[in-house]
Amino acid sequence: MTSVEADRQTADPELGPVLGRGFGHGKVILVGEHAVVYGHAALAVGISTGISVEARIGTGRLQVPAWKLEATTGDDTPVGRALAAIVGRMEAPLLDFLADAQIPSRAGLGSSAALAVAIARAAAVATGRAGATDTIDAAVAEAEAIFHGDPSGIDAAAAKSGAAGTFTRAGGWRPVPVLQAMTLCIGFSGRPRDTAAQVAAVRRLRERLPAAGDVLALLGRLADDASSALGKGDVDGLGRILDAAHGLLAALRLSSPELEVLVHGARAAGAVGAKLTGAGGGGAVIALAPGHERDVLARWRAAGYEGFVAQIAAAPGGRAATGGRA
Ligand code: MEV
Repeated sequence: MTSVEADRQTADPELGPVLGRGFGHGKVILVGEHAVVYGHAALAVGISTGISVEARIGTGRLQVPAWKLEATTGDDTPVGRALAAIVGRMEAPLLDFLADAQIPSRAGLGSSAALAVAIARAAAVATGRAGATDTIDAAVAEAEAIFHGDPSGIDAAAAKSGAAGTFTRAGGWRPVPVLQAMTLCIGFSGRPRDTAAQVAAVRRLRERLPAAGDVLALLGRLADDASSALGKGDVDGLGRILDAAHGLLAALRLSSPELEVLVHGARAAGAVGAKLTGAGGGGAVIALAPGHERDVLARWRAAGYEGFVAQIAAAPGGRAATGGRA
């Protein structure tokens, strides 16, 4: 179902009045995925494309038409259990939720965090507690733990902020200044990623190969370097960092044949840097290709892969990124 069709459904008077609305941003990790699990820094951007949720009087049901997904607080699926956790924390058991998802699920763009944030925010508004940010944060963290085991929290932080920021487990989210707007190409491998499985695979590798710990530390250092590059408007420098980070993620066995096609295709089409983003194994890649964004998207499309562009907006103190489908 398209978002236009979903809007029509939203306007259906039989659904009853909307009591609250919430939005969660999709996220792109520029550098530092997996490293952030081990306490190192990661740099991420919340994009303007994400998930909108409407809350109405109901019985604890969730519908996400774009993903052909339905769940209830009573079912034993991960989505049903996450939903139960959110409405439990938000003390809102008598609501139904209708989500308009503008990002694909399980594609590396933080869809579960965006959905959890949007539901929690809609429930908070519907129950007259829009300012209860600590409760919203706790609800989202509980839902994310159901989806991903022991997530670092970066997806939830980016889904809430919608801006560029660095994240560490100890220090949380810090907005990052962006001197000059940059355009990111985002390409989908078409293979769903499984964050918990990829995080577990890196943990096993780290136990068997201690040098993997050094690779993770190096990724954290690259995340810091990438933050400085954003602050200086150094697009070429950021591109080189993306390439180096992709090599290190591949060394941790997080790449795949599809992701390699996307990364190499982007470079051949003029990208100054490209890497997988998110948990890896599947999901998405990002590419920085100033002046060649159309070439990158065309190259990907010719190889059978979909993509879109998102802007990282200039932000002296760290502000929202914008994005949309190409
Ligand atoms: C997933 O978007 C990012 C990972 O670093 C996992 C996490 O931080 O929880 C792979």
